[in-house]
Amino acid sequence: MKKLLALLLALTMCMALAACGGSNESAPAAEEPAQTEQAAEGGDAAQTGETGDLPVIEPGKLIMATNAQFPPYEMVADGEGVAGTGLEGIDVEIAAALAEKVGLELQIDDMEFDSALVAVQHGQADMVLAGLTYTEERDELMDFSDPYAQGVQVVIVKEDSPIQTADDLANAGLIGTQRGTTGYIYCTGDYGEDHVSPYDNGATAVQALLNGQVDCVVIDKMPAQTFVAENPGLKILETSYVVEDYVLAVNEGNTQLQTALNDALNELKADGTLQTIVDKYITAE
Ligand code: ARG
Repeated sequence: MKKLLALLLALTMCMALAACGGSNESAPAAEEPAQTEQAAEGGDAAQTGETGDLPVIEPGKLIMATNAQFPPYEMVADGEGVAGTGLEGIDVEIAAALAEKVGLELQIDDMEFDSALVAVQHGQADMVLAGLTYTEERDELMDFSDPYAQGVQVVIVKEDSPIQTADDLANAGLIGTQRGTTGYIYCTGDYGEDHVSPYDNGATAVQALLNGQVDCVVIDKMPAQTFVAENPGLKILETSYVVEDYVLAVNEGNTQLQTALNDALNELKADGTLQTIVDKYITAE
């Protein structure tokens, strides 16, 4: 009889574990043996099991922080945007696909770029997807996915500018950048804070260039191309300043979410979804 009981118990535990398993890590299900009986009886575990174990801020939601002033990665849409977010762009589409894969509802909070980085570190957002460059300094504060795109810091100047190559930045006068970006970080590092003006976003930095308040703008290549196309009289220097990797960020130590999102991202790479998204926004040069 005792043997039978033990066998039954073992069986119920197996069932409970299987119910909780889903596609994600099954580790949390095994934590509290006291609950296994209940779970086996009620079968509720199957309901919450799918993604209920991902550590997100609001149950059922994947909250993304971004700065939607960065075409073609994220920008305000004309209509309702991707998945009703009011936004569109490569990162927005990737986020929607990731949310679907991990079974969460996507919410996007649009804010200043430097605030987006703070939001994820302070538990106000689950992830940052914002054409965000990997740097070792940021790696101290956040955890990252594998790279999903390449970014290039380029230099925008007026067509008749004396600044002709990236090397001329040393004598550029005043360099415009977006606050908190790698453009700002590298330029202040290389040429000193006195030579760099931070702006709220790329578009205002470009406006400052047009107005003659700065002599050039250092910014990521893709948004640079949009800004130059929209504003006659500007050009992008052929020599680029820095080449970098774009990554997705979660809060430091949130390994479970990092792994789940990174796995999902790699699936999007492998099955061609990522390339389809990129092709939709970036037409071959
Ligand atoms: N790649 C640069 C960085 O990480 C700029 C990113 C700006 N992104 C944005 N959505 N405004 O610093």
